[in-house]
Amino acid sequence: MAVRVCERLRPLLKTSHLSPISFVRKAAIAKAKYGGRHTVTMLPGGGIGPELMAYVKEVFRFAGVPVDFETVSIDPQSEGNEDLEYAITSIRRNGVCIKGNIETKSLTAGVQSRNVAIRSELDLFVSVLHCKSYPGVRCRHKGIDVILVRQNTEGEYAMLEHESVSGVVESMKVVTAENAERVARYGFEYAKKLGRKKVTTIHKANIMKLSDGLFLETSRKVAKDYPNIQHNDMIIDNCCMQLVSNPHQFDVMIMTNLYGAIVSNVVCGLVGGAGLISGINYGDHYAVFEPGTRNTGTAIAGKNIANPIAMLSASVDMLEHLGFHYHATNIRKAIEYTINEDRLHTLDLGGTSSSTDIVHNVLKRIEKLTEGHNWMGKSY
Ligand code: NAI
Repeated sequence: MAVRVCERLRPLLKTSHLSPISFVRKAAIAKAKYGGRHTVTMLPGGGIGPELMAYVKEVFRFAGVPVDFETVSIDPQSEGNEDLEYAITSIRRNGVCIKGNIETKSLTAGVQSRNVAIRSELDLFVSVLHCKSYPGVRCRHKGIDVILVRQNTEGEYAMLEHESVSGVVESMKVVTAENAERVARYGFEYAKKLGRKKVTTIHKANIMKLSDGLFLETSRKVAKDYPNIQHNDMIIDNCCMQLVSNPHQFDVMIMTNLYGAIVSNVVCGLVGGAGLISGINYGDHYAVFEPGTRNTGTAIAGKNIANPIAMLSASVDMLEHLGFHYHATNIRKAIEYTINEDRLHTLDLGGTSSSTDIVHNVLKRIEKLTEGHNWMGKSY
């Protein structure tokens, strides 16, 4: 399909990033390693972000994780970009970042969402959420295990809006063949690596025939390179209905940016809500880890009731990415014991535990798991 590109959209077409071999965890290279320790950027964000980051630090300190944090706070009221630029420079230097959701309070046209700006500036073209049920969390459906692969830098988040005449606002949805291919190939490679059987492309090509049409057509083309993986597609409306009625039919899902935001929230809701699942933003050079639904949780900030699991899981994903598998495995197991065996749950999961009850139990579990081992996992 020939697509004419308006000059204003040129910066969105980063064709040089099409690197067919740089998929699946290999994508981002962690850089800042000195004397066996990694430095990573920490962006606490707003709402519950700072308290959740304090828990991550506490768990890392307790578990002896050799990671140091370079913390950068971004003022939500700010209309300038100085602190944002500082944060981006820090991520470029360190290669890896853990973040909470950064609020952008300004409603002034042209002031970008900080979260979107970070993803676009660092070309974090794909977001991956592994949504898996915890057996200890009571939900309508059991045994959900779905991987969401979302285009992360364009689509409905292009932030190109204008008022053409008074009372008429236009918003551009940008889909490029390059980025559609990158995300589709990432999804299929990920499915292949994890031995998954099926990939479903989510779209609205019946209405958005050019933009979603290109996204769908591209994923169908990529699917031909993966004959052992079944490929189908589904319209976003039906997808939401199918997800709530029969989520087990889904394995790996590929989608554009806004559908990814919606589907992430639906699936996170199905397995227990905003406080459980982590999400990863990948590009060819950088990786950013955060809670999957990317909420701020402002209404519950400072009350010791926020569920710390999504952010702790994000920190475990980060440790795996950095190659600290011993620490990652222990913290992941400690989280699972806390939720499934000890059945400590915060309010959002129908429990009565505080955030700090959960974190202290995770620490207790880490202590048991690491008894008789030094910080590198060697027994003594
Ligand atoms: P919110 O922050 O109010 O969260 C939605 C619900 O989930 C609330 O009931 C909250 O209490 C609950 N929740 C979130 N995290 C939790 C946790 N760890 N433990 C227990 N409960 C938790 O979400 P809302 O109102 O949709 O968004 C707030 C802000 O976040 C807005 O400024 C929005 O722009 C931004 N946002 C940004 C996204 C992005 O991708 N950049 C995505 C979603 C929201």
